[in-house]
Amino acid sequence: MLQSFQRPTTRKLPVKKDRFQDEARFLRSWLERPLTIGAVTPSGKVLARTMASYVDPRIPGPIVELGPGTGPVTDALIRRGVEQERLILVEFNPEFCQLLKRRFPKATIVQGDAYDLKETLSGILKEPAAATVSSLPLFTKPMDHRLDLLETAQELMHPNAPFVQFTYAVVPPIPARSKDYRAKASNRIWRNLPPARVWVYNKAKNP
Ligand SMILES: C[S@@+](CC[C@H](N)C(=O)[O-])C[C@H]1O[C@@H](n2cnc3c(N)ncnc32)[C@H](O)[C@@H]1O
Repeated sequence: MLQSFQRPTTRKLPVKKDRFQDEARFLRSWLERPLTIGAVTPSGKVLARTMASYVDPRIPGPIVELGPGTGPVTDALIRRGVEQERLILVEFNPEFCQLLKRRFPKATIVQGDAYDLKETLSGILKEPAAATVSSLPLFTKPMDHRLDLLETAQELMHPNAPFVQFTYAVVPPIPARSKDYRAKASNRIWRNLPPARVWVYNKAKNP
């Protein structure tokens, strides 16, 4: 009787414990560097799933994730069908990098600056990427840095590959209208704290 009561509790515990520990790690990191982390808690499952939904796992090539943090979007990408081996995770925070190595041992973890993407991925990205998925807190950077990042990411990808970015803001983190790229947005995701929206940028066919 006691055993059958205990079994489900112990099976659920690590998951809850992981989530609690991730939230604590995040909060600590936010207290140390609020502008770099840009959020007080990891993305929720619905937001992570929405980010991943814009990646087509059938399109070959590496998937570059910028600012994976504790890995909720990484996890959603894998659940969507992207093999771990295809993932290149660029994260600034060394503690998060250690955690990502434990959680996603077959992915390539790069500790470095995503805003210096060419240099950071030099010798690592050996073929055009199929998508770039970014959780970087873009609003902490001036607009020319954000535009440079989008342009560099597009240079490193297939011509039609998406640059996926979430934001808590009501305005797009990179302007939606441009002759160089096309932008579309998800609905606002209310089941996230704070509510968020996903923006997807594709290179314009005939700029
Ligand atoms: C808003 S958090 C998102 C974390 C995670 N993807 C999620 O959705 O919960 C932003 C992440 O970007 C990382 N980051 C910030 N600036 C960075 C940079 N220049 N290069 C790489 N990672 C960066 C932070 O350390 C943090 O893990």
